[in-house]
Amino acid sequence: MVEHFAVRGGVRLVGSVDVVGAKNSVLKLMAAALLAEGTTTITNCPEILDVPLMADVLRSLGCDVRVEGGTVTIDVPAVLSAQADYRPVSKLRASVCVLGPLVARCRRAVVPLPGGDAIGSRPLDMHASGLRKLGATTEIEHGRVVAQAEHLRGAQIWLDFPSVGATENILMAAVLADGVTVIDNAAREPEIVDLCTMLQRMGAKIEGAGSSTLTVYGVSGLQPTEHRVIGDRIVGATWAFAAAMTRGEVEVRGVDPHHLDLVLDKLRSAGAHTEIRVDGFTVAMENRPRAVDFVTLPYPGFATDLQPMAIALSAVADGTSMITENVFEARFRFVDEMVRLGADARTDGHHAVLRGVERLSSAPVWASDIRAGAGLVLAGLCADGETEIWDIEHIDRGYPRFVENLRALGADIERLSTEPDR
Ligand code: UD1
Repeated sequence: MVEHFAVRGGVRLVGSVDVVGAKNSVLKLMAAALLAEGTTTITNCPEILDVPLMADVLRSLGCDVRVEGGTVTIDVPAVLSAQADYRPVSKLRASVCVLGPLVARCRRAVVPLPGGDAIGSRPLDMHASGLRKLGATTEIEHGRVVAQAEHLRGAQIWLDFPSVGATENILMAAVLADGVTVIDNAAREPEIVDLCTMLQRMGAKIEGAGSSTLTVYGVSGLQPTEHRVIGDRIVGATWAFAAAMTRGEVEVRGVDPHHLDLVLDKLRSAGAHTEIRVDGFTVAMENRPRAVDFVTLPYPGFATDLQPMAIALSAVADGTSMITENVFEARFRFVDEMVRLGADARTDGHHAVLRGVERLSSAPVWASDIRAGAGLVLAGLCADGETEIWDIEHIDRGYPRFVENLRALGADIERLSTEPDR
């Protein structure tokens, strides 16, 4: 059976929604568990498809992994296999983050190259050059990255771009290297801070988490730990955009509102009222949103993962917005699906210009990645008639209980199964 979502637009979203742990944190925290023999427990995990896939990657390395509700328990053996299975890795790009921990623990890592991605090319050159600076050799052999190091030693590393994945891999190798590693132009995302917090609890010595210079004092071994994943700011922001677009009022719980300072400021510029609390916020919108411009950048800039939500908001805003994508070059591909829903959108290179329309019109559309899929659903909430969103497995990879959460806020959305076309 093939599943799709059917959304009937025109409803104001009102109510409260709880957000659980961040996808982009939990997968890296699961990889970090490899750094210590013994049992590591991670709580507040999102129940999304990527978590069992990452569990399969860890099992292929010799771990015993249990995923029970929001808790993932990982038993890491004294001796790990250095070679990850192709099958789970090919389905989960984030699994490349086992590279750093494996080189650190086994002095060798063989990780299949993850496949292409609908949001653009995602090379691993910065991951590889960082590991080389630490003393590893890296080669591509038979579609796999092979990294080896007799001895990892601290080094000064300058990243060309504050890549999230490269920062994480280098960090996880450096914690067990001899001596001091300094990563300059490091990524500052809250998920990196979460990873540093867990590594510190395991005994790693790291300074500068959340800044663009990370200093790591290598230690000889780490201990297993228990860690609670930070709330998913991208999911929280998705509900904030949904509230603003439907002129509703939504309380979001379980996210640090300071991770969304810029996002909430943009929504205020669009006319929303916001109320900030310790672990959440409320967004309320009375009138049609005003057009605002968005520019994606590494954190603390506006997240590229929220660019589809910015496009969806701009599609129904009063006025003209310019959205600039600076992180993933192919991320505007889904804009054609927005046009199918009646958006007046034009893209040129890494800019998109949207002239807001009062109302979108329903159509069948296809999700190309997690965030594009969520953006299309938000657009469907503001469209006349019934919008069908297909290829929703992408959305299920990133949003736990997506339909249930939207329905609890009053949205007219359902998940339907049909026979596949022959
Ligand atoms: C992570 C997030 C993703 C988010 C992105 C940027 C996870 C699982 N995914 O992806 O949701 O959109 O951060 O916030 O956490 N690059 C290179 N060479 C490299 C590495 C990256 O050129 O070696 C480029 C990429 O092609 C891209 C840019 O750097 O253009 C940013 O990528 P990066 O920050 O590494 O993103 P990911 O870690 O893949």
